[in-house]
Amino acid sequence: MKSSDQDRCYLNDEGDSFFARNMGQADPDVLRPKKREIAERIASCGLQPMRVIEYGCNYGDLLKHYAEQGAECYGIEASGDAVEFGRKHYASAIELIQGSIADNALNREGGHCGFFDLAIIDDVFCWVSRETLMQSIANIDAVLAEGGHLFIREFFPLRSTRNRNHHVKDQEIYCYKLAGLHAGVFTASENYQVLARHSWIDDHDGWVDGKDEHRFESRWVDSILRKSTQDYFATAQPPA
Ligand SMILES: C[S@@+](CC[C@H](N)C(=O)[O-])C[C@H]1O[C@@H](n2cnc3c(N)ncnc32)[C@H](O)[C@@H]1O
Repeated sequence: MKSSDQDRCYLNDEGDSFFARNMGQADPDVLRPKKREIAERIASCGLQPMRVIEYGCNYGDLLKHYAEQGAECYGIEASGDAVEFGRKHYASAIELIQGSIADNALNREGGHCGFFDLAIIDDVFCWVSRETLMQSIANIDAVLAEGGHLFIREFFPLRSTRNRNHHVKDQEIYCYKLAGLHAGVFTASENYQVLARHSWIDDHDGWVDGKDEHRFESRWVDSILRKSTQDYFATAQPPA
């Protein structure tokens, strides 16, 4: 495994600090509104997943929602405090593992290859170290079944940018926003096709001048991709 200061920072400090800053008042019995929205978007595509994994799941409320519908659920999360909170409140309903997308016990053990029919990554890719990005993508692809679906929520800027995480003072930690999208890395392989997309701009409703790059810094997109290693290729016929 390549080492990465940014992933290590999330595992050792920033994951817990994020949890303390944002989840202090979390009610484990109520699905957060943003998570409800994600569940509704996935359901609107007719998907009823039975084996779900979420990477960067925080304390796992969305997984708990799927577990209540009968799904077997696993979460990988950098913050030890978030994992502890989820384990305390959801007990054995879901399996939470502290780790990074690139380096975690579930992927290392290899027993869940092609196991999941849905993988969710909600606002996490931008925080993944660029050194471990491709390993992270390989780990997600490894556990997703043929015909399975991948939900990615991420920034959708006009040009690729990186913004410093101002909460971390002693290290340069960045949020990486890709004009071509992290979802675009999957589709470029031709093993994934877009099933649905929805985009919006934070605190804004209506047309935006394309020159106003600042506004596009807070444009988001939800992508639902379907995986197949076989379906998306036409077999070329040899010349007669
Ligand atoms: C900005 S939050 C996004 C919201 C989050 N998905 C949720 O459900 O609340 C990013 C989350 O991903 C986690 N994280 C950051 N880098 C990670 C990595 N490389 N692998 C796994 N989790 C990571 C953080 O600890 C945090 O919980």
